[in-house]
Amino acid sequence: MRTFLLRSVESVLRRGGAPSCPAPSSHILRRSFSAESAPERKVAVLGAAGGIGQPLALLMKLNPLVSHLALYDIAGTPGVAADVSHINTRAEVKGYMAEEQLGQALEGSDVVIIPAGVPRKPGMTRDDLFNINAGIVKSLCTAIAKYCPNALVNMISNPVNSTVPIAAEVFKKAGTYDEKKLFGVTMLDVVRAKTFYAGKANIPVADVDVPVVGGHAGITILPLFSQATPATNALSEDDIKALTKRTQDGGTEVVEAKAGKGSATLSMAYAGAIFADACLKGLNGVPDIVECSFVQSSITELPFFASKVRLGKNGVEEVLGLGTLSDYEKQGLENLKAELKASIEKGIKFAKEN
Ligand code: NAI
Repeated sequence: MRTFLLRSVESVLRRGGAPSCPAPSSHILRRSFSAESAPERKVAVLGAAGGIGQPLALLMKLNPLVSHLALYDIAGTPGVAADVSHINTRAEVKGYMAEEQLGQALEGSDVVIIPAGVPRKPGMTRDDLFNINAGIVKSLCTAIAKYCPNALVNMISNPVNSTVPIAAEVFKKAGTYDEKKLFGVTMLDVVRAKTFYAGKANIPVADVDVPVVGGHAGITILPLFSQATPATNALSEDDIKALTKRTQDGGTEVVEAKAGKGSATLSMAYAGAIFADACLKGLNGVPDIVECSFVQSSITELPFFASKVRLGKNGVEEVLGLGTLSDYEKQGLENLKAELKASIEKGIKFAKEN
């Protein structure tokens, strides 16, 4: 049972990192890239005792590509670390608590995942979180610049549309900014779009891919169902509109269902683990790793934008273009730009003034 569970999780992680249509040779290469030959990789989770942090710590402990797992939070990490450390997988787990241990947690990290901060309550937008989370992200990124300036940073803390520009400004100020190494994690939007599309079209979800572009809040989330694979003609225009809205409001659906007890944690941990796994595979030289992420971009006039990104040994290897959009998606793209621009500028302004 245990082996079965572990194998299943590993195979899900492996599948999640795979592109939609890998070339046969790269597919063989990926399969033969075993944990035994995987190099040492340290992953740090900041906010590891939280609703996302705990299941994310569990999933990273199950990832055979991780050799060292550092769990940091302002409180509660010794318990989480002791618990997770008993799982008999490769990663050596250490817990770090309070700011004086942050440097040790970060030192030597290849990937830093940040789910630290406050989640939404019913009636709140992601932007309402700005005042608290902006400060948290700024101080954590200041420490990253000092202790592991070369790490890939996976930003989960909301509002991602602003926290990623804040991180970029902090790194610029510290002289360590490398646009290839900063990622806003929008994977949950992709995970939701795949699930909702497969459900509506009645096709096996494991085969489905749906790119999601733009940003990570409300209408800035733009799923490209016209590019979904496998294609289907089972969906009407109204179905596509409803699927788009459900993907955009996916976070709110969970916030309301949890009725004041937080936002998406389990599905976010899954999405975060899949994205971190893709980053690790890229670092390890596995070819054709493509996932959507909110990164510095020149594919539109906006300085940060989510789209498909090819991951490699230095982080972002290539930011892929948008491809052909339907008229509905073209309209969605125009509609999201003003809000996304304002959120990006708000983040930059905060970082410059604080
Ligand atoms: P939570 O409140 O359960 O956990 C947050 C954790 O961060 C707590 O353990 C807290 O002690 C810790 N923390 C606070 N300040 C810290 C600091 N300075 N350094 C280190 N740790 C610190 O919240 P939850 O549900 O885990 O959500 C975390 C963040 O993730 C929120 O900002 C939420 O909006 C965001 N989120 C992002 C999603 C995405 O798709 N990118 C999806 C869902 C949530």
